[in-house]
Amino acid sequence: MANLLSSWSSDLDSLPEKYIVPEEKRPGALLAPVSKDIPAIDLSEGDRASIIQKIMIASQEFGFFQVINHGVSEKLMIDAVNVGKEFFSMPAEEMENFAAKDPRKGCKVYTGSGNYGSDDFGLWRDTLQHPCHPLEKWTNIFPDKPAGYRGTIGPYTVEVRKLGIRILDMIYEGLGLTEENYDYHDLLLMIHNYPACPDPSSALGVSGHRDANLITIIQQDIYGLQLFKDGQWIGVEPLPNAFGIPISFSMEVISNGKLRSAVHRVVTNSACFRTSLVNFFNSPSDRLIEPVKSLVSPSNPPAFRAFHMKEYLEVLFGNNSDSEVTAEYFKIKSQASK
Ligand code: OGA
Ligand code: NI
Repeated sequence: MANLLSSWSSDLDSLPEKYIVPEEKRPGALLAPVSKDIPAIDLSEGDRASIIQKIMIASQEFGFFQVINHGVSEKLMIDAVNVGKEFFSMPAEEMENFAAKDPRKGCKVYTGSGNYGSDDFGLWRDTLQHPCHPLEKWTNIFPDKPAGYRGTIGPYTVEVRKLGIRILDMIYEGLGLTEENYDYHDLLLMIHNYPACPDPSSALGVSGHRDANLITIIQQDIYGLQLFKDGQWIGVEPLPNAFGIPISFSMEVISNGKLRSAVHRVVTNSACFRTSLVNFFNSPSDRLIEPVKSLVSPSNPPAFRAFHMKEYLEVLFGNNSDSEVTAEYFKIKSQASK
């Protein structure tokens, strides 16, 4: 049993105790307003060098930017979010079909963090996830219901991957890296469904975290995503047909700290459910993640030690999925602060 919120939460008029977030992490009554400062970069405007410059400035300052006029078809974006919503509107048994442990080698459905029962508190979301690239390899494990799922999500992830590679190329170029440093392979899609919540001030859909991979491409239809910047949470405006792009921890490490990874979380709302499509660009799993040699010098020593993703995940899970503690673990402390 996956206990999917999507199938039982609609009749509630108060938040079950299990979902009350400890006070210090609670969003509180004042859900952060959207910030107009977060850069929205038009990928069709100006020359490549000026777009790269905007991406680099945003990645240094916010660890996050949005992109508009990015080339992914508007119709595919709408169809993709709709088919995601349709998935989470299916009867519980249909969704649960995909929840069993690995019957389809990689396609999973779960509620909250996936550790329901052992977490300190429950997260207000359900997730469907599966790998996407190469499509020919994975399409057979995609859900076959709702009927349009494979026909929509297949082409959607192909287009999103093209966009991701375009952005990664520009980031690598902005860092002054040569092609042998270019590093992008897998694409993992998570479709999150955040049902309407009886008490958004006490619940969270996703706790504050940094993603582990290179970059993430998020499609959100309604507000919920927040960034932690300068000691406070700020809201990301869900611009029409835009994608939100957090820089993730592996990219921070590769750039030797030149780019910062975004600490972000998701708050809920009481009016309607929110569906997001979150595309994670990962390094190949056997790749050593380390500061690129050309960005390291005696005056700029490595800020992180090298690791494989397997070790990262062991440290993360050994620390209750706390990505802040995990990031500290891989930081090399400067002589002065030792
Ligand atoms: C994530 C995430 C954001 C969202 O899945 O890591 O940050 O808007 N999701 O669902
Ligand atoms: Ni994230």
